[in-house]
Formats: sequence, C-alpha cells, structure tokens
Amino acid sequence: MGTFSGKTVIVTGAARGQGAAEARLFIAEGANVVATDLLEEGAALARELGPACEFIEHDVSDEAAWARVVSRAMTRFGRVDVLVNNAGVLSTLPLDATEPAEFERVYRVNQLGTFLGMRAVIEPMAERGGAIVNTSSGAALSGTPGMFAYVASKWALRGMTKSAARDLAKYKIRVNAILPGIIDTAMAAQNSPENLKQFAAMIPFGRFGTPAEIAQLVAFLASDAAQYITGAEFAIDGGLNA
Ligand SMILES: NC(=O)c1ccc[n+]([C@@H]2O[C@H](COP(=O)([O-])OP(=O)(O)OC[C@H]3O[C@@H](n4cnc5c(N)ncnc54)[C@H](O)[C@@H]3O)[C@@H](O)[C@H]2O)c1
Repeated sequence: MGTFSGKTVIVTGAARGQGAAEARLFIAEGANVVATDLLEEGAALARELGPACEFIEHDVSDEAAWARVVSRAMTRFGRVDVLVNNAGVLSTLPLDATEPAEFERVYRVNQLGTFLGMRAVIEPMAERGGAIVNTSSGAALSGTPGMFAYVASKWALRGMTKSAARDLAKYKIRVNAILPGIIDTAMAAQNSPENLKQFAAMIPFGRFGTPAEIAQLVAFLASDAAQYITGAEFAIDGGLNA
C-alpha cells in the first residue's frame, strides 16, 4: 500500500523531465496515473510503468482535449484526486525581442493550459476534495532577465495558484505552486553551455536539481500529509533564491 493507493493522478507534460519523474513516483506510491503530453514518447513511459499508467496525447492549451483527459481518467480509474500542471515551454528572449506571437505561444501552454486544467478537474474532484500542484518557477521570484514571456507566465501562475486556492477551498481542493530553480532536463539544456556553467556557480549547493527531487516535493504537496497547505509556494532550488 502506497501513499496514493486507490487515487488517480493526472500529470501533464509527463513524457520526459520532471513530469516523467512525477509519474514514476506516483506509480511507485500506488496511484493510478494519467500521463499526458504532446510528445508520443509518453506512450513508452506508460508501457514501462504498467497498467496503472495510461498515456494520453494531449495539448494542454486545448479545452476540448482537457474534457477528453478527464473523461478517460473517470472511465478507466473512476476518480480524479490530483492534478499536476507540469507541462511548460521556455522562451529565451528579452522583452525587446519578444514578438506578440512568441508571447502568446508561451502564454497558451504555461498559463492558459494551467487554467484549463484546474477548471477541468473541479467537477470530478468536488465530491471528495483533491489537490492541484502548479509548476511555476524560480524565474518568477524576480524580474529574471532575458526570458520575458516565460517570466510573465510563471508570475501569473503564482497569482492563479493563490486565487484558485481561495476559490476552490469550498470543494476541499487544495492548490499549491512549486518554484523550481534550475533542474537538469531538456528545458534547462536550451540555455547555452556558458550560461549553464554560470548558473551552476550561482547555486549554493553547486549543482542543478534533479527531476526526482522535484517529484518528491510534488508528491508531498499532493498527499494528505499536506492537508492544511493551500495557496502556498515552495522554492526548490538548492538555495539559488535564498
Ligand atoms: N528545467 C528547469 O530548470 C525548470 C525550472 C523551473 C521550472 N520549470 C518548469 O518545469 C516544468 C517541466 O519542465 P521540464 O524541466 O521537465 O522540461 P521538459 O521540456 O523536459 O518538459 C516539459 C514537457 O512539457 C511538454 N509540453 C510542452 N508543451 C505542451 C503542451 N502544449 N501540451 C502538453 N504538453 C506540453 C513537453 O512536450 C515536455 O515533455 C515546466 O513547466 C517548466 O517551465 C523547469
């Protein structure tokens, strides 16, 4: 019996990186997992994780696709207890080089996608309560330079998390945000090697975080051990933003 036995968890952006580590940990803790992503690599992960994991190809910015994800979770596993809004895209451009189309691309995945996800799970969670974990970023603790659209979207998630926590408390749905520092994934690798070297030197722990470390925090926030925590934000960054 694991912490999440009998529960159903939806993880977006689960084909790789932090989302894949989260799906793995929830499965290890006894959950049924609906892993979603644009990338079909998610299907291989689901095969590896076995019958408690179902992969659905899903664009988080598509409202109709959210209805399909929730409906499939209910048909296959009968309930939805946890949503991890993890899918995200990076933008490495400063304000003066950010075209409206770039701003909108990032907004649609990071911000609209998280909104649609939270909205889609209210009904299936409302009966017995639930937990939502939104993936903001340490980049939303200051005006991090050179990634304007990304920073805007991740700051928005902080406000959305707090507002949703208040709005959904009546359904016993908890909503919290994680603010990862620099985590060793394909997204971080989009930065230049020189930048990555500089970033590592700024981290008191002297290294990037791992997806497995992020998954531990997400699982804690999603679990009953965190039953009185809502509207909160957790930096997880080896001291980078301390
Ligand atoms: N890696 C870091 O340093 C870091 C730091 C802070 C926050 N984050 C955030 O953590 C989350 C996970 O990122 P990661 O580091 O694992 O990077 P990643 O690029 O490996 O994973 C992101 C996943 O999201 C998926 N995705 C992108 N657009 C999507 C869409 N429209 N619909 C569904 N899935 C979509 C991608 O296919 C990918 O599998 C993101 O929200 C990211 O912004 C990352």
